[in-house]
Amino acid sequence: MTLAVETPERSPFPVPFGWFCIGYPEDFPLALPRAIFYFDRHLVAWRDETGELHVQDPFCPHLGAHLGHGGSVEGCEIRCPFHGWTFDATGTNTNIPYSERVNKRDTLRTFPVMEVNGVSLVWYHPDAAVEPMWEISPLAEFHGDPEWSTNVRTEHTVEAPWQEMAENGVDSAHFRFVHNTADVPELVSYETGFPGTMMKSVQKFVTPRGVMEGRIDSEQVGPGLAIVRFGGIVDTVSLAATTPITANRCITRFNFRFKTMGDEETTQNVGHAFVREVNKQFLEDKPIWEHKAHLVRPALADNDGPFMKFRKWAAQFYAEGVNAERTVFAPPWWPERADEAPAKATASARLGGS
Ligand code: FES
Ligand SMILES: [Fe+2]
Repeated sequence: MTLAVETPERSPFPVPFGWFCIGYPEDFPLALPRAIFYFDRHLVAWRDETGELHVQDPFCPHLGAHLGHGGSVEGCEIRCPFHGWTFDATGTNTNIPYSERVNKRDTLRTFPVMEVNGVSLVWYHPDAAVEPMWEISPLAEFHGDPEWSTNVRTEHTVEAPWQEMAENGVDSAHFRFVHNTADVPELVSYETGFPGTMMKSVQKFVTPRGVMEGRIDSEQVGPGLAIVRFGGIVDTVSLAATTPITANRCITRFNFRFKTMGDEETTQNVGHAFVREVNKQFLEDKPIWEHKAHLVRPALADNDGPFMKFRKWAAQFYAEGVNAERTVFAPPWWPERADEAPAKATASARLGGS
């Protein structure tokens, strides 16, 4: 007799493939290997003496030491802390200090890396043989255009699969209820392709100078990167990078830049108010994402956004396929969270309790 209790899965989705942010260039100083964990796997990141960043499987094929815990960088190679074997940027063993020969057969899996727009990116695909299917282009706002301010960054970890968070982008009806906004963004167009999507919306804002119309152009580049441009009241661009830590836990890093508004102080004040609002909304969404079920067949209303178009686009990034055995996937039970206030109450409390 088995006592095993079947644990229902959190979602039907495995880790998607694509380019994902693993942090910022300064997180990976020269010659200091770091242990990192993304895509449900241990990794080591190290920068060689020429400044190039490398990301590899971290467990030495000799006896399994983690190269990110005590390993060292020598020139353009990484040395294992356990018995001193060295590996190059392709993961090939280049030296065994106490042997005449090297081990040509056992290599470290090496992941493609690029650093652009102020972020460090890794190409993840479950199949090591699959090369990057797209590139990430430099954005003028992040490459020294003097019209744009310096970077403001925030980050959040969320206990939810990537797709649940990304779906928020097509959900216009939730704004009124989760974010207490008077008007909801109005969808102008939504195009999907591979690897990207482009969504254009307009939204009315009540300001001291009357009702103004804002534009929101949101471009998704694969599952990992969204470039959102806000125009109208304040010109802002945000690079939102969401990376799966596991299939059911993600980290989102926001990078904001604001178009200069005459003087630096005004730009910073308006910009920071904007960042606070985006963060507030993200924190309002978070408990919904973390506690919602994934419904394969949601009961959509007439004016709900293009959910199914979004899901069809998202499905392109699951190389391992999705779990089609059920139609409802619930999150784990977190007893310590059972008494938490619902999102709306939490939000109004933060706004002053009225
Ligand atoms: S475990 Fe790496 S050299 Fe022995
Ligand atoms: Fe939201």
